[in-house]
Amino acid sequence: MNISILGIPMDLGAGRRGVDMGPSALRNAHLAQRLRELGHSVRDLGDIAVALPETLDKHETGGLVFLNTILEASRETVRRVSALPEGEFPITIGGDHSIGMGTVTGNALRGNPAGARTGLIWVDAHTDYNTPQSSPSGNIHGMPVAHLTGLGDPGLASLGGAWQLHPEDIVMIGIRSVDAHERQLVHEAGIKAYTMKDVDQLGMTRIYEETMERLSGVERLHVSFDADALDPTVAPGVGTPVPGGLTYREGHLLMELLSESGRVTSLDIVEVNPVLDTQNQTAEVMVGMAASLLGQRIL
Ligand code: ARG
Ligand code: MN
Ligand code: MN
Ligand code: MN
Repeated sequence: MNISILGIPMDLGAGRRGVDMGPSALRNAHLAQRLRELGHSVRDLGDIAVALPETLDKHETGGLVFLNTILEASRETVRRVSALPEGEFPITIGGDHSIGMGTVTGNALRGNPAGARTGLIWVDAHTDYNTPQSSPSGNIHGMPVAHLTGLGDPGLASLGGAWQLHPEDIVMIGIRSVDAHERQLVHEAGIKAYTMKDVDQLGMTRIYEETMERLSGVERLHVSFDADALDPTVAPGVGTPVPGGLTYREGHLLMELLSESGRVTSLDIVEVNPVLDTQNQTAEVMVGMAASLLGQRIL
């Protein structure tokens, strides 16, 4: 497979500094080499430019934190990702989860200006379905999925022109932290979310099977993997850790099964925060997850 890696050193959407160093930490953990060892042809496209928060006014636009700069970086992400050939497998590395607005949109638009019907597997402790109105923090990394489905700020909600993600094409896995009003929005949208209770009760294999069944009609399949989906003992280097997360093996099993399906067409790795990490453990674990998704097997 032809894989391209694009870094988006964005931390403007998060409440804490440090995820802007995520791309560097993942490269340090040998992301490209691991994938080359699996037989892939990998090119690293470097990072897109994102302004430093120290150079900006936090409430540039009055309401949302760093809205203008995130909007600009998201548009650039759409331009860069949508320009990649259709047969290529992009891995976009963050950066906070606000990059998902640009990455999912860019992948839907690759080789198809109207946008292909795209399934989204959102692996996360959080549903990230806040709108500017519902968000208790004002941090945009808690809002990307809502904007992908057309809610929220009109600029962020129209990155793909007329293209939008269908709520019925979204499956979330690993969920254990949802804000009060956000919960209502997730229900209203009809998004399928597998909570940690579901993971405990059903097991990852059943969740995988149901997910594939549900997303059987989509043309493309994007996996957006937030490192905080994993338990904080496995992935301590994240800004919004929540106890009771996916085990190391649950994460790998999901990636191995998705790999076997042969249906995944793009991947995000987000929310790796080296400032809060232990010896780059979180970046290394996430590189392992990417390797499993791209064909690594135990035997
Ligand atoms: N729900 C919280 C908020 O809206 C936390 C979101 C965390 N999101 C993330 N991508 N880590 O602020
Ligand atoms: Mn997230
Ligand atoms: Mn999260
Ligand atoms: Mn629809």
